[in-house]
Amino acid sequence: MTEYARLIIGEKEYKLPVIHGTSGDKAIDIRGLRRESGYITFDPGFGNTGSCKSSITFMDGEKGILRYRGIPIEELAEHSSFVETAFLLITGKLPTRTELTTTSVYLNDLSLLHENMKHFYLNFPSRAHPMGILSAMVNAMRSFHPELIDSKEDLQKTFLRLISKVRTMAAMAYKVSIGQNPVYPNPNYSYCANFLHMMFDNPVVPYSLDKDIVDALNVFWILHADHEQNCSTTAVRVVGSGKVNIYAAISAGISALWGPLHGGANQAVIHMLQEIDSSGLKISDVIKRSKDKKDPFRLMGFGHRVYKAYDPRAKIMKQICDKVLRKTNTKDPLLSIAMDLEGEALNDTYFQDKNLYPNVDFYSGIVLRALGIPTDMFTVMFAIGRLPGWIAHWQEDFNDPEMKISRPRQVFTGEPLVKYLPIEKR
Ligand code: CMC
Repeated sequence: MTEYARLIIGEKEYKLPVIHGTSGDKAIDIRGLRRESGYITFDPGFGNTGSCKSSITFMDGEKGILRYRGIPIEELAEHSSFVETAFLLITGKLPTRTELTTTSVYLNDLSLLHENMKHFYLNFPSRAHPMGILSAMVNAMRSFHPELIDSKEDLQKTFLRLISKVRTMAAMAYKVSIGQNPVYPNPNYSYCANFLHMMFDNPVVPYSLDKDIVDALNVFWILHADHEQNCSTTAVRVVGSGKVNIYAAISAGISALWGPLHGGANQAVIHMLQEIDSSGLKISDVIKRSKDKKDPFRLMGFGHRVYKAYDPRAKIMKQICDKVLRKTNTKDPLLSIAMDLEGEALNDTYFQDKNLYPNVDFYSGIVLRALGIPTDMFTVMFAIGRLPGWIAHWQEDFNDPEMKISRPRQVFTGEPLVKYLPIEKR
């Protein structure tokens, strides 16, 4: 039996169907609201709006739960690899051994960039941000790989091409930025190992791979692989809803991720910690500033739209941070500043009352620094990790017969009617 919510406006009552998800989500279906009542809903930032039905990722922000295709993030971080998790997100199930091997073969075969793509890098100004470069390069892929337009290519191959080449592009952007020749992928290495190889190997100081570091990178990317309808994923879905090619939609996701309130927070956290370190600012003063409503400063790496408990990704990231620092024998002064900040914030009623906890970005920068990743590349690292999630969401929309072009309404607050004034009378 259909369950309804009743909405009363003036004398009239409207019956709105209620939708239930599989894990406790409840929604009021307002698709017929404007047609029947003339009203729209008003929800800037979409904090109360479900934009789609999705079977990819489940989050319970109150309980701090995150599951990909039903599997808890803690289990994936412990047992899975990034490639296996990507397969899970995109196809909906864990791969068999044969499927995993086929995926790895494809990722290897598709990892080279068209040599002409290298020219793009050389023409960016030397201080261009790698996120801007990556977004442009992914959009450019459509010109190099137009198969999709003719629908001749198996979509799964397109997905793997993206996952493989984005990693090569990211490493190449770094190499070009430091004036070195790009390093080609090595077919004997796994996805994560190959990234480290392409980033850090050079003819005079060969990079030696360490299993623990490769494992840490796998977990880092698993933690970032999806997060349901976040800002960048919504960008991918919204842009994709116009039936644009997947490369353009993913490029939009990369641009959305760049912002400091979203994926750019990992870079912003490190800048904040460095500033505290170099200026000798007291932790208590930093906390005070972040609470001052007249000051735009916020504690970066803290707070989340959905999590009102400790971000489960941040818990795992903190463990990875300890492991990587121990393994690389790094004593990072920023770690103790971060821990002091966290301790003080969690004891402060402002943060307690607003349920503000460290998010995934709080400790991730310290992990990346220990891996030798330059700060400018931090958000690129997030983007490589989030790619399987973006692809899975793009595909879900693509296959959903109910999906429509994204086109919200507005409440108009401008001048209702203005007469055109000729230029000589203005
Ligand atoms: N420092 C100080 N106050 C904060 C913070 C913070 N980091 N985050 C939220 N608040 C306050 C905010 O001022 C507001 O106070 P009031 O109710 O008195 O106006 C209240 O907490 C609720 O915040 P909001 O801005 O309404 O919450 P939101 O859901 O719109 O924003 C957020 C979520 C992540 C953008 C925000 O918490 C923030 O700016 N955090 C810092 C940036 C950051 O770490 N971003 C990474 C997010 S996790 C990675 C990802 O998936 O994107």
